[in-house]
Amino acid sequence: MAKKITLSIIKADIGSIGGHIKPSQKLLETVENHVKTKGKKLIIDWYVGHTGDDIAILSTHRKGPLAESIHKLCWKALLEGTKVAKKQGLYGAGQDLLKDTFSGNVKGMGPAVAELEFEERTAEPFLMFAADKTDPGAYSLPLYLAFADPMYNPGLMLSAPIKKGFKWVIMDVSYTKADKIITLVSPEESYDIAALLRDNSRFVVEGIYSRATGERVAAVSTTRLHNIAGRYVGKDDPVMLIRTQKNFPATGEILAPYTIGHYVSGFMRGSHTGPLLPVKKNSSISFFDGPPVVNCLAFCVKDGKLTEPADVFDHPYWDWVRNKVSQKAEEIRKQGFSGVAMLPMSELEYTGIVETLKKLEKKFKVRKK
Ligand code: F6R
Ligand code: MG
Ligand code: MG
Repeated sequence: MAKKITLSIIKADIGSIGGHIKPSQKLLETVENHVKTKGKKLIIDWYVGHTGDDIAILSTHRKGPLAESIHKLCWKALLEGTKVAKKQGLYGAGQDLLKDTFSGNVKGMGPAVAELEFEERTAEPFLMFAADKTDPGAYSLPLYLAFADPMYNPGLMLSAPIKKGFKWVIMDVSYTKADKIITLVSPEESYDIAALLRDNSRFVVEGIYSRATGERVAAVSTTRLHNIAGRYVGKDDPVMLIRTQKNFPATGEILAPYTIGHYVSGFMRGSHTGPLLPVKKNSSISFFDGPPVVNCLAFCVKDGKLTEPADVFDHPYWDWVRNKVSQKAEEIRKQGFSGVAMLPMSELEYTGIVETLKKLEKKFKVRKK
């Protein structure tokens, strides 16, 4: 039997130029150089890129998910990068590296992680997603539509293996003592899945599996930084890996829901609602420290060797989408701090409002009847 291959993405914000715009070229080179030189005997191939202020390291290897050697390599690359970020006076240097001592893997240390282990098919296409200025729940609606709704995925009607449906592993990220997960299957339990995924801040898809073959199709990072640090340290900016085609949804079916530009949490100060804008490779952040962005690169992998990435949102169709989604951003920004434009108290990433309310509470008087 062929030996399994593992795809690992490890991603963090370790500093950026001019606020939260993008990492410097030197920072990217430092991270990539570390992976390339120190990872020679560990990894088969790698890709380093950025989405907004986050640097993502994609590596291929045969060590399986949560492999200490791979996680350590990436953690050290991010530490080396942090040194450069500090030297260059970049903003938020080392921001997402929340722990000092490395103990086995980077889960719970700040960086976002998504890993898939599988036996390579004859042709193995997959997608690597990275989002900035939002949280892991941002992927929930697009995943639901791509894996459970024939309006977006005609494969659910047209292809026998896809019609068998999918197994969903969903995590309750509000529980911080350990991983709290539930397993549900679509289509039978798709209303239950929807009932959970409605709540983007609490229930997050961790993995999706094909019911036809049992293989894992998707892996999503579930890190909630404020649950690790207990305070605001930036939004979680999730990554995701999805295998596509044949027994899995087609690449275009996975991408179809990103035409919506659905409203997600994040944007300015991680405390607002904004539409998820599909952007090109290595895009920066701008309007109102946003808008929340998602970028997606398609690869094929053979014996662990990656092709060059195909930038899926770099196409005239998505220019039209970008205009449409920008209008959605404009619409919600018009109402500033009011109502749904700003996140509920539990999700605000700054403590200013809590403090203000505490102060004002003392000034409130209950009128005598
Ligand atoms: C950071 C982010 C930004 C910052 C904002 C203020 O990921 O989303 O919107 O929250 O630029 O940053 P500070 O408080 O660090 O000056
Ligand atoms: Mg940041
Ligand atoms: Mg970020």
